[in-house]
Amino acid sequence: MNAPLHEQFLTLQEIVAAARRNLPPGPWSYLVGGAETETTVRRNRQALDAIAFRPRVLRDVSRVDASAPFLGRRMRLPVMLAPIGGLESIVEGGAAAAARGAAQFGVPQMLSSVCQPGLEATAAAAEATRVFQLYVRGDDAWVDDHVRRALDHGYCAFCLTVDVAMYSRRERDLVGRFVKPWRATAPAGSTYQSGLSWDQVKRFKDKHAIPLILKGIATAEDAELAVQHGVEVVYVSNHGGRQLDHGLGSAAVLPEVVAAIGGRAEIWVDGGFMRGTDIVKAIALGASTVGLGRLPCLGLGAAGVPGLVRTLEILENEVQTCLGLLGVTSIAELTPRHLTSAPPVFEPSVFSALPLLGD
Ligand SMILES: Cc1cc2nc3c(=O)[nH]c(=O)nc-3n(C[C@H](O)[C@H](O)[C@H](O)COP(=O)(O)O)c2cc1C
Repeated sequence: MNAPLHEQFLTLQEIVAAARRNLPPGPWSYLVGGAETETTVRRNRQALDAIAFRPRVLRDVSRVDASAPFLGRRMRLPVMLAPIGGLESIVEGGAAAAARGAAQFGVPQMLSSVCQPGLEATAAAAEATRVFQLYVRGDDAWVDDHVRRALDHGYCAFCLTVDVAMYSRRERDLVGRFVKPWRATAPAGSTYQSGLSWDQVKRFKDKHAIPLILKGIATAEDAELAVQHGVEVVYVSNHGGRQLDHGLGSAAVLPEVVAAIGGRAEIWVDGGFMRGTDIVKAIALGASTVGLGRLPCLGLGAAGVPGLVRTLEILENEVQTCLGLLGVTSIAELTPRHLTSAPPVFEPSVFSALPLLGD
């Protein structure tokens, strides 16, 4: 009989190693890969590794609280499961499994519109705090229908992903001939996504009261436009390095967006976040929530829903340890003064935060 998960997995490295053993080559490459040369994937890690801490000491950290606000609620950590298309290729139950893990641990889930079992069944699977993310593959009425269904099923916010005007060249998938059933409808609908402009954001805000998130903002200029259009959340992301190659790492983009927004909207971020220390860095820079893409999928791939919960438990322990060692007792106390810059130590790669894996 296998040992309980909290004994099998003491570290995130062991979880990722188990996922690698379990997942077939196609889904594994789909999950870890990026676009073209995967420079953006690597820069996500490089940007995080180029930030060092300035710890304060002798500050009574006998009680540390890692919980965080999320759209007016309280979550156990300042993280969210980022939207993942085709999760059903990685874990049985797909998004429903992710919803169960998110609810059990106490963090929000953002559901991708290209993930099974879909908006309604995922909502029915668990009482997670949920947000719906849409790839626009239809006209305004089609979008409005998704908003109505999201509201009817308890989604508390709506996200448009805006860094997918073109579907990128994912060379690991191309070389492996990995067929994605959830992309089968793309040719029919993809012109809607490439045709999007700020006019559609204006139309959305004029018509719908649900909080709107724009995912895939990567410049101060677009952050400013988002705020001018009344967008509630600016989500700094490069899609985990899976869309535009040769972009900056998300942690390197964050400061200009924080400065441009000046507190007028919430800022979320994702891209390469694999460790508690990474999350603490983003919060200290001014983000309120960190999206996790590959990491929760690796937890699911390692051991299903319990594997995801175990991943989040280890992450929580890492965040609490980091907060205490920085001399703060809550994430609200973090400021840019806790950070400085330093040359990265590791050659960046998708798994460079897990050096025992021996990539
Ligand atoms: C397998 C996979 C599928 C994804 N599918 C979507 C999607 O359907 N919609 C979306 O907005 N982003 C999607 N993303 C991007 C993630 O939401 C997130 O931005 C990215 O994974 C964050 O980087 P990280 O994986 O380094 O944490 C996907 C990412 C991965 C790894």
